[in-house]
Amino acid sequence: MTENDAGARRDAEGWRPPRWTRSQAARIERTPETVAPVIEPPAEDPAADLHIWDTWLLRDRHGEIAEVDGWRVLFSLTAPEELLPGKRHDVAEIRFFYSRNGTEWHGGEPVFDADALGQRQWAGSALYDDGDLYLYYTAAGDESAEELNYNQRIAVGHGGRFAADDDGVRSEGPWTHEVLLEPDGEWYESEDQSRGMIYTFRDPWFFEDPNTGETTLLFEANTPVPTDSGRCGGDEAQQEFNGSVGVAASRSGDPLDWELEPPLLDGVCVNQELERPHVVARDDRYYLFFSSHMHTFAPGLRGFDGLYGFVADSLRGEYEPLNGSGLVVANPAGVPFQAYSWMAFPYRDEVLVQSFYNYREFAGESLDGIADLSEAEQRRRFGGTLSPTLRLDVGDDRTRIHGTLAHWHIPTAREELPATDGYRPPDDVDPDEGYVDRPDTRMDRHRTGRYPRNGY
Ligand code: FRU
Repeated sequence: MTENDAGARRDAEGWRPPRWTRSQAARIERTPETVAPVIEPPAEDPAADLHIWDTWLLRDRHGEIAEVDGWRVLFSLTAPEELLPGKRHDVAEIRFFYSRNGTEWHGGEPVFDADALGQRQWAGSALYDDGDLYLYYTAAGDESAEELNYNQRIAVGHGGRFAADDDGVRSEGPWTHEVLLEPDGEWYESEDQSRGMIYTFRDPWFFEDPNTGETTLLFEANTPVPTDSGRCGGDEAQQEFNGSVGVAASRSGDPLDWELEPPLLDGVCVNQELERPHVVARDDRYYLFFSSHMHTFAPGLRGFDGLYGFVADSLRGEYEPLNGSGLVVANPAGVPFQAYSWMAFPYRDEVLVQSFYNYREFAGESLDGIADLSEAEQRRRFGGTLSPTLRLDVGDDRTRIHGTLAHWHIPTAREELPATDGYRPPDDVDPDEGYVDRPDTRMDRHRTGRYPRNGY
C-alpha cells in the first residue's frame, strides 16, 4: 500500500481498523499444533544473578539479525535476582548480552547510563542501521514524579555505539534520549481516559516493509471506547477490554521521526493487552504476532497465556486470525504460566519463537495467585531466564509447532538446524484443563490503587 492509499483509507468514511472479533476468539482452544512442550530448567543460566524477561534482538532495517564484528546482540528487561519476581516491573532495566554462536551468551551490562527516560524502562526493539544504533524502549513512569506511576511513553536512545573486540561488546555513550510518541487520545487512549484494568502505550517495534519500503513503528495500545459508542453491543464491562496494535509511520524513513496512524488491529470487546506486537513478513504476507494473558480476555471469552497471530496481504490489510482463532502458541494445561512474551523471527522457511521462562509448577487460577505463595516459593517457581526457542511451521493461515531448540538458542539463517521429524507434540492439550473464568480481582486492584502487578 502506498502512503497515499494509507491516508485515503484512514480518512475514508466508514473505514475502521480490522478487528479481532469475539466470534474468532471464541474458537480459542489448545491443540497439538499450538501447545508448547513443558519446559525443563536450563542446565546453565548465563545470567543467574538477574531476573530476565522480555527480550529482543539487534536487527537491521530488513529484520535480519545484525552482527557487531561477528557478535549478535540481545536485549532483555532485567532486575536483580534477589528481588521478588512480581516486583521486577517496577525497577526494570535494559541490559544486553552478546554471542558469537547464538548458544553461548555473555555480558549482561546495562545498555544505557543512568539518564534513560522513565522511572524504569520497559520493552522495545533495537535497530542497527549502517553502524548507527536506535534503541527503542518504553519510558515507564514519569521520572518527574516521586511516586511510582504507570505513565508510558515511547522513547529512543541513540547516538551511542557498541564497541566490539575479541573479548566482547561494550555499550559506549553518550546516548541521547528522546520521547518519540505519546497517545493522541483519539486513536490511542491516554492514561486519563483509561477505564480498563491495565493501561498500555508501550513496546515499540521497528518494522520496515520489504515490499513497499515504508518504515513503521508498531506498539501496544488501547482504543478509546466511550460508553455511548455502542461498541460491544453497549456492554460496558466488555468495552473496558480495548487492546489494540498501534502503528506510527516515518515518511522520510528517519528512525527518529514518527507520526501516529490508526491501529493495525483492534481487539476491543476481546482483550485488554495485545503485548509486544511485531510482524514477520513472508511470501508477500504479513504475519502479525503479539502476546496476551488468560486474565486479559473480556468477560465471556476464554483464552490462555500465549502467542497470538494474524495474517494479511499488506501491513494495513484485513488481518485474519491464524488457526481460525488467533492462538499460535499456548502453554501446556498443567503449567499454564510457564512462558510469556514471545517474539517470532524468521529462520529460512520457518519461524522461530523466543520467550522467557515464567512460572513453573504453578497452575493456579491466574497469575494473581502467585502473590499468595510464600516469597521463597515465588522465587523458586520463577524461571527468570530465556525459554527454549520454539520452531514454527507457518503456511498460509495455519501454524504448527514442529520442534524446539535449547534455552537461549538464537540461530541465524547461516546455521543448520536439525531435522524435526522426531518431534512429537505434547499430549497435554485438554482445552478445558488449566482454564478458569477470568477472575475479577485485578480490576478491583487497579481501582483501589493497589495495582502493582504482584503476580507477574
Ligand atoms: C510483557 C510486558 C511488556 C512490558 C513489560 C514490562 O511481558 O507487559 O508489555 O513492556 O512486560 O515489564
